[in-house]
Amino acid sequence: MPFFKSMGQLPRRQFSQFRQPDGAMYFEELTGHVGFFGDGTTMYHRNSPCAIKGAEEVKLAEPKMVSNQPLLPHHIRPKALSFVGDCVTGRIVLMGNDDLTMSYSISTNPSPLYRNMVGDELVFVDSGSARVESPFGVLLVRRGDYVVLPSGCTHRWVPQGDGPLSLLIVETTGHITFPEHYQTARGQFLSTAPFNELHLRGPEELLNFDERDVDILYKSRGGFTKYTMDTHPFDVVGWYGCMYPYALNIWDFSPVTGSFHRTPPIHQTFIGPKFIVMSFVPRKFEFDKEAMRTPPHHSNPDCDETLYYMSGNFRSRDGAGFDEGSMSLHPGGFTHGPQPENLERALSIDATQETAVMIDTFSPLKLSTEALKVQDPSYLKVWQRS
Ligand SMILES: [Fe+2]
Repeated sequence: MPFFKSMGQLPRRQFSQFRQPDGAMYFEELTGHVGFFGDGTTMYHRNSPCAIKGAEEVKLAEPKMVSNQPLLPHHIRPKALSFVGDCVTGRIVLMGNDDLTMSYSISTNPSPLYRNMVGDELVFVDSGSARVESPFGVLLVRRGDYVVLPSGCTHRWVPQGDGPLSLLIVETTGHITFPEHYQTARGQFLSTAPFNELHLRGPEELLNFDERDVDILYKSRGGFTKYTMDTHPFDVVGWYGCMYPYALNIWDFSPVTGSFHRTPPIHQTFIGPKFIVMSFVPRKFEFDKEAMRTPPHHSNPDCDETLYYMSGNFRSRDGAGFDEGSMSLHPGGFTHGPQPENLERALSIDATQETAVMIDTFSPLKLSTEALKVQDPSYLKVWQRS
């Protein structure tokens, strides 16, 4: 997050004596990415943030991943899976490669305290609402939010409201940024960008937990470890910096429309290590009287293309069966496009109400055996005619 934010009580300068009311010093913690050459934050704890009372390995079930061979398109329905537990330990991996995994989760239970040390997480709130608690405070999130959790940020998901919390979760192996062409050289959003700083929401209210012997689930490149810490990590009286969890709602993305078809880069929202996230939101169709109102047939040999259909009507091929909660995978180089009758039919429609999240990956995706259990076996038939 390249925008400075501060909250709570702070000393006059970094690395200085900053004392609590009883005269003891606060515990200053500097946390930053890329060996302190990247975004970072300085925070002030009431208690030492490094007092470990125990550590034990945790074995979570590993997903079984299968290569997409023979190379085929897929339609899966993640909501048909059986979910147990919470949105951290109960998430089910759908697809992945060496750069990222995509999981889905439906839960009502609060997650454990969780700290992913491998890479940032990008979580899309498909339905429900939650408090995301962290040392930076409380981030309230709702349906349609993208939530970016920087690596190393201890946090906890606490579902709110009556319905379950449904999440599409991208675990990365690096850091998530915005498309460079949306920003000035110094990082401010340009007026031509589809969203800007006004739409990015950070934590609001600081927390002050006094619990002792607090368990935190760490994810590292080697696996999972449960640390028992002497004191609670959410005891921060103030912080400042550019690394903290934040949210962007998909419906704050202002779509670009044109007289003729515009290709997917106009939907770019986030960039990660070897993947791009794009937002499709309700918008007018192409308006020139000679314009096609469907995408052309297309193939991109460099990217696997996934699309999660959140809500609305979907411009897809007849018989595809895409509905809210569907997820498609069109592998790199697979040519796909509209049927002849759809080319004509679309000419009488001037807008779409669809909301969907597209994730293009620059390495081939494998599918999990769980995802294959809820795939539509008839999807290939959609492509067995012109
Ligand atoms: Fe496509």
